[in-house]
Amino acid sequence: MTLIKNAAALYQCSLDGIQSDVNEFQNYTLAYRGDTIAWVGPDSELPSEYASDDVIDAHGKIVIPGLIDCHTHLAFGGWRGDEFELRILGRPYLEIQQAGGGIASSMKHTRAASEETLLNKALQHLQEIASLGVTTLEAKTGYGLNKEHEEKVLRVYKELQKQQALDILPTLLAAHIVPPEYKAKREDYISIICDEIIPSVAEQQLARFCDVFVEEGAYSIEEGRTVLECGKRYGLIPKLHVDQLSAGGGAELAAEVGAVSADHLEFISHQGILAMLEKKVTAVNLPLASLYTFQKALDARALIDTGLPVAIATDFNPGSAPSYHLPMVMMLSCTMNRMTPAEVLKGVTIYAARALGITDTHGSLEVGKQADIALIDSPNINHWMYHFRGNCCAMTIKKGQVIYQAP
Ligand code: NIG
Ligand code: FE
Repeated sequence: MTLIKNAAALYQCSLDGIQSDVNEFQNYTLAYRGDTIAWVGPDSELPSEYASDDVIDAHGKIVIPGLIDCHTHLAFGGWRGDEFELRILGRPYLEIQQAGGGIASSMKHTRAASEETLLNKALQHLQEIASLGVTTLEAKTGYGLNKEHEEKVLRVYKELQKQQALDILPTLLAAHIVPPEYKAKREDYISIICDEIIPSVAEQQLARFCDVFVEEGAYSIEEGRTVLECGKRYGLIPKLHVDQLSAGGGAELAAEVGAVSADHLEFISHQGILAMLEKKVTAVNLPLASLYTFQKALDARALIDTGLPVAIATDFNPGSAPSYHLPMVMMLSCTMNRMTPAEVLKGVTIYAARALGITDTHGSLEVGKQADIALIDSPNINHWMYHFRGNCCAMTIKKGQVIYQAP
């Protein structure tokens, strides 16, 4: 039994309540045994059977659930710093894509990269990600864009599960853009996704989710529906990139297909908000993508004030969001999306777990859940997000193991 004591505050972040209810407690002790949380409560009420000499003294830091990054494109070949500069100088994101850059450029580099190269690059990233207090990550494909290379990236994710501590939840995003070789026959590529890629990925149990980028220059609503319905028949849970650059009825599609989350949503309609609310689809805010593409930010208030849970993620990818720094994205959610620090904390813990369908095991400091915990060197969450520093994480605990400790 390990006890965590002397925290300035413990934030439990249970699923109930509204987005700002983070259950902040003072003078609380948390006990975990093995990989599971055994007890959480006031110091004075710790049952004698949980007494232990194995104590982590938080020394006035705050204790939070391990952070969850519920939307990343973790493994890809190359980078796209050249486009970063073009966009700064005024070239629109879609124009760069139409000229053969963007996702197609990362596709070339990802296809050219070996499994080993992709694995080692991702392992390095994950080490730093863990040091930020992140303990669980969703990871999408989307730069292979054919069966061979989409499966290659999914095998990298499977291997990452074995070689490091964080939980990696893999998503098939074969429908990211139409690969250049199928530009004139896009229906053929859709058929390949549905008849070859999805069945094979499902048979090898390489992915948990199926995602589609529904946007001008990517896929239509009808194509998105076809791919996601097919994925469902093979047990893949739908997710969506929607309403990012234009209003396209993507949120409504997410509700219709029963997606676990709909991500981006900068151009979501009011009907879209209501439809997602009704069908319990979690919204995912990705402010880095708005920032790097010079697009308007999500009006998170309109969603939260309607009662729709808003998770937050980095969208880490080589184009629109080239950083995996989730705490920075948390600060941006405050400043760009007008979410309060409490709303943000819930967005990267239990609501991020909701966006992945794993609230039974992840996302809060409650008895029976995985002992995924972060200690943050700040007196409270307001100060943490307000006084932004490179890394405030003092300790990351994954399934009861200390996997990072600040020097
Ligand atoms: O989530 N929106 C589509 N896909 C990615 C961008 C990918 C890229 O630019 O490479 C996103 O923002
Ligand atoms: Fe994305």
